[in-house]
Amino acid sequence: MEPGTLDVSSTRAEFPALHQSVSGVPLTYLDNAATTQKPQSVIDSVDEFYEQDNANVHRGVHQLSQRATKAYEDARAALANWIGAASDAEVVFTKGCTEGLNLVAASWGGSNLQGNDTVLVSTMEHHSNIVPWQMTAERTGAKVEPIPITDAVELDLEWLAARLAKGGVKAVAVKSVCNVSGTVNPIKEVARLAHEHGALIVVDAAQGLAHQKVSVQDWDADFVAFTAHKAYGPMGIGALYGRKALLENMPPYQTGGGMVRGVTFEKTNFAEPPERFEAGTPNVAGAIGFATAIDFLERVGVEAMARHENCLAKLAEERLSEIPGLKIHGKAKHKAGIVSFTMTEAHPHDVGTVLDQYGVAVRTGHHCCMPLMARLGVPATTRASFACYNNTTDVENLFNAVIKVKELFG
Ligand SMILES: Cc1ncc(COP(=O)(O)O)c(C=O)c1O
Repeated sequence: MEPGTLDVSSTRAEFPALHQSVSGVPLTYLDNAATTQKPQSVIDSVDEFYEQDNANVHRGVHQLSQRATKAYEDARAALANWIGAASDAEVVFTKGCTEGLNLVAASWGGSNLQGNDTVLVSTMEHHSNIVPWQMTAERTGAKVEPIPITDAVELDLEWLAARLAKGGVKAVAVKSVCNVSGTVNPIKEVARLAHEHGALIVVDAAQGLAHQKVSVQDWDADFVAFTAHKAYGPMGIGALYGRKALLENMPPYQTGGGMVRGVTFEKTNFAEPPERFEAGTPNVAGAIGFATAIDFLERVGVEAMARHENCLAKLAEERLSEIPGLKIHGKAKHKAGIVSFTMTEAHPHDVGTVLDQYGVAVRTGHHCCMPLMARLGVPATTRASFACYNNTTDVENLFNAVIKVKELFG
């Protein structure tokens, strides 16, 4: 019996890419925090768009264009509903989490920050929630200050409360789930603290969608960036949630077709959000695939997925901890299904290469979190990350392959 309450084997059967061998053995796919595999329903929905409805949106009066426009706007409505947005207009389609965070930093940050303002960014952030703030800080004179984390890779909330009380903080940027340690951050609490001191909260929910039931209103978040491909959806599509009143007062991030009301050589009037932030032809097939991925999350049950993945991650931690010289990084109280480790004998890249020989796909490197690596005192880690289709055999395959690394390098 598999842990959790999922019917893992029937869920697994929906993912064609999982049914293959690599290096002559069945694939053990544990790189889900980088990108999940896609269920047949998502693949089919993207195919169907191109086979039947392919047309540009918001432009044509012909029937294909109308069908494409409806499917695109239905996808926006499905996402708005899933994340608990107050209206569809609060959901801007982007090409991923990175673009959403760049949009906030450039547009909101660029027009609201100035010298003496500070943006607090947690030390565990992905580069996509650090570098855009640095770029905006360079342009505006604002400062970017790191929020310290504990040895367990948890936010130092006492420090945060004290720093906010000192004043001058305009925004707090945090991720909902850490892609390295699996830490589930207390977003609601961070939002409460930030708002108490007049700051906004900007959430990177790249890892959130597949591992927790997100409600932007329950979080009381101001901006939340999502990406579809880490939650069973296609690559190249994501969304930015923004509070309506904030989006309405922000300048466009990119300009061109589709985001204007009227253009003359004297003046351009911009469209209302979300169109204001969607210049150019959007990724319509991606948006449709994103909505189908949400159907999948709803059908399988994201809470059941999270319970299942947590059980597997716990089991993996227990098994890996039996190996002398192996260190697991990140011991937060609340964790999602992600396990990062280092070994005294071998560099993570060597670990990953050997694991691949045994059909085990994991991620190695700094995971775009170099400040977190510096805090942990390592250049890189090996990361195993779990999804709803993983099972205890995958954990055993990981363990056995790590033992091979030990034998080879030990
Ligand atoms: C925590 C976190 N934030 C942001 C990103 C960037 O997401 P994307 O590449 O889909 O824009 C990632 C991807 O690894 C991530 O794990």
